[in-house]
Amino acid sequence: MTHCINPLSPTLGAEVVGLDLNEPLSDAVFLEIERAWQDANGVLVFRGQDLAPEAQIAFSRRLGDLEVHVAKRYLLPGHPEIYRVSTKQDANGKAMGNPESGRYWHSDLSYLDPPAKASLLYALEVPPIGGDTMFTNMAAAHDALSEPVRTMLNGLMAVHDYSYVRRMFSPGFGRSADPNQVPPVRHPVVRPHCDTGRKTIFVNPGFTTHIEGLSRHESGAVLAFLFEHATRPEFVYRHSWSVGDAVLWDNRLTMHHAVHDFYETGGVRHMHRTTVMGTKE
Ligand code: OGA
Ligand code: MN
Repeated sequence: MTHCINPLSPTLGAEVVGLDLNEPLSDAVFLEIERAWQDANGVLVFRGQDLAPEAQIAFSRRLGDLEVHVAKRYLLPGHPEIYRVSTKQDANGKAMGNPESGRYWHSDLSYLDPPAKASLLYALEVPPIGGDTMFTNMAAAHDALSEPVRTMLNGLMAVHDYSYVRRMFSPGFGRSADPNQVPPVRHPVVRPHCDTGRKTIFVNPGFTTHIEGLSRHESGAVLAFLFEHATRPEFVYRHSWSVGDAVLWDNRLTMHHAVHDFYETGGVRHMHRTTVMGTKE
């Protein structure tokens, strides 16, 4: 089957049409996909998939080892590598997946060291309208900083903490995991991408608590500036989902944000995510 790859926005994102991820990809096609992913600045949309959990896991594994998410109650029974993002409930009224899924800018698993390499989110059901996901290009955001600001950020380390987001955004959310099992970690504020060496801004409003060595006031102001800067519209691609889309993103190069605007429409959104672990630089 021949496939084609089309850009989705000037800053990041491309779609792959005509490639079935249920079929094992040849090494040549896999390499082409890896390059296209990099060329698209870390967001690749595979259209028209009908992905069995085993196939999603097998494809994701070619990118690296898989992470079993800390929020155990949302894992797909029998396939703990699949984390469910869902507004659906089972017959007993139990949530079938995380209904809150990242409604703030973040990078998956930045609270681990090393942070996640990639996530692959596959849409089984989407609302008729709404429920988009936004992505932003953190290398382009870095490159747009002035030299004096880059100099100031050089060498700074930031702390990332899994339990932070719960305090900040959704009181009561996240009881599914014990935050004590996930101690805070440190990452450089400007982090070279492990595969390309490109500099990226690696802080996010979801998990970054503060920048070390700065006063609380300074850290808050610098982070607020970086978040505002990195989410300027010219760095953002907004993905409007169709059933069968499988979106692969690079957590070291992008942040993402779920748009929770469809609850009142009664729309249903049901997705399967695999997460590829990063490697130490
Ligand atoms: C995630 C996530 C975004 C979305 O699964 O990591 O942030 O739009 N999801 O559901
Ligand atoms: Mn996420």
